[in-house]
Amino acid sequence: MCGIAGYIGNRKAAPILIEMLRLLEYRGYDSVGIATMDSRGRIRISKGVGSIDKVLKEKKLDSLPGNIGIGHTRWSTHGIVSEENAHPHTDCTGKIAIVHNGVIQNYFEIKRELLAKGHRFYSETDTEVVAHLIEELLKEGKTILEALRESIKRLQGDFSIVLLASPERRLYFMKKGLLPLIIGKGKGEAFVASDVIALAPYTKRVLYLEDGSYGYVSRDEIKVENVYGKPLPKRKNISIDASRIDKGGFAHRMHKEIYDIPHFASLFVSYAEHHIKGAIELLETYDKIRIIGAGSSYHASLYGEMVLSRIYKNKHIKAIVASEFPNRIDLVEDDLVIAVSQSGETYDVLEPVRRLKENGVPVLAIVNRRNSELDRIATERVYIEAGVERAVAATKTFVNQVLAFAALGGLESLNEVPKAFDKILKERRNRSGLGSEKLDEAALRIAKSLYDKPSAFYLGRYLGYVAAKEGALKIKEVSYIHAESYPSGELKHGPLALISKDFPVILISYSEKHVRKDRSTYEEVISRGANAYVITFDSLVENFEGASYISLPDVDENVSTAILVVPLFLIAYHAAVLRGYDPDKPRNLAKSVTVE
Ligand code: G6P
Repeated sequence: MCGIAGYIGNRKAAPILIEMLRLLEYRGYDSVGIATMDSRGRIRISKGVGSIDKVLKEKKLDSLPGNIGIGHTRWSTHGIVSEENAHPHTDCTGKIAIVHNGVIQNYFEIKRELLAKGHRFYSETDTEVVAHLIEELLKEGKTILEALRESIKRLQGDFSIVLLASPERRLYFMKKGLLPLIIGKGKGEAFVASDVIALAPYTKRVLYLEDGSYGYVSRDEIKVENVYGKPLPKRKNISIDASRIDKGGFAHRMHKEIYDIPHFASLFVSYAEHHIKGAIELLETYDKIRIIGAGSSYHASLYGEMVLSRIYKNKHIKAIVASEFPNRIDLVEDDLVIAVSQSGETYDVLEPVRRLKENGVPVLAIVNRRNSELDRIATERVYIEAGVERAVAATKTFVNQVLAFAALGGLESLNEVPKAFDKILKERRNRSGLGSEKLDEAALRIAKSLYDKPSAFYLGRYLGYVAAKEGALKIKEVSYIHAESYPSGELKHGPLALISKDFPVILISYSEKHVRKDRSTYEEVISRGANAYVITFDSLVENFEGASYISLPDVDENVSTAILVVPLFLIAYHAAVLRGYDPDKPRNLAKSVTVE
């Protein structure tokens, strides 16, 4: 959440910062801004509301002079989306410019003090307070490093900050708490960013800063100190495959990432063969297991609860929305906690994990991003090996989270899954009754019939309900159609009242065990005028004669959730495009939510 970037070197800073910010835009796209220092030590700022492309055009961001600078792409917390609130922010003298990710909890109190001392503020942000606080500390005679050290002590919350302090030709930084800040060093140049993705095109060796770090980078020097006396971490290699970051010929990243599912699913299956023994041993040691996650990762957690409970019959396994976990005082904290997060950065997940670890509770992470905070603090981890995901809505990473739980359950049928993905996304013509339709065409057909409707229901039972929940979330996120998911049997206890002519219903039917009831649900909704679409498997499809359906190649029902969501992702994607929205950048959302 909020992308921050810094560059110092021999090249012109602004175009490099823009490229870095493009790679960070998934963290927020409310506004964007850049500050550079020209050859005379003057700080120049350009910023505006909207996406990088829009602001670049309007404000000619790339024309800012100088070969040192900082940049920011914002997801607003304090202050509305406006040019005044866009970063970078400056102090009264204009000699300090700051970009920031995170929240300063005690900003109001500090702002009051600084106002009393005569500082003038131009924005409603918590960030601007930091610029003035440093100005004040410098006025008191402190060096910049001393001022940063003091600021980390005085400012409460989790934050990462990069700043310019004229006329010093250095990128200063400080980090408190959980939010990432990473330094990359090249020959005669250096980079700072809030995600290693932004460093990948420029350098292969990076330094992940620890909580309490502050210091600077110049063209040929890195200086890092730590408020808590932590030693300097070792440099690490970047493991990102930069060639898979672009759109690969697709109009949108979300679409491409759906088509990447077969590749990354088989990557995970190979990884799981050798690398999850430690995680399984940990799991087997505990009888009570809590699983926490947010958004799609919560849905994967729910799948984990359902499937692991079937396999480990004597264990008590429960999935909980991460932000609600601290409220569940009934859940004793001496058991195993599985934390699920694609980014490994989600505050709602990290906050309880940090506390659990302090209390000696083991945490097993199911995580995509290596070296993320969650990866680093967990007791044990399973990497889902899903590559970089940049569309805000999770697709391929959700699938691999599901596969990770299947692997933890020792499900042999995991090996069938990559083949099934190949069939549906690479070769298969689907049996939907319209002849030789491909899965994508079938999804588009369904999207065309519901994209102009205000609401939709997604229904399913047990593992099918997890798929329904994820399908409903996806269409909400990217197309803004109000979609609700229910366990199919629950429909008659209230929601059925909403069904009338042409109300779209997506019904998931995945198991022989439930198919008769699923057919009844289908009848209940169409008899009231609904437009119902069934997502099912080849061996069950004859139960839905006369229905509009998508039929998928059979897999073991325990892993069916991974396959069922693919058509649902495609329906959501097409609905968003048909409604004229950019599915990669849904309004109000960000991919990594690093605030509470
Ligand atoms: C945000 C994203 C969701 C995502 C959730 C959890 O809300 O918009 O798509 O599922 O965060 O993210 P995580 O990185 O923890 O899996």
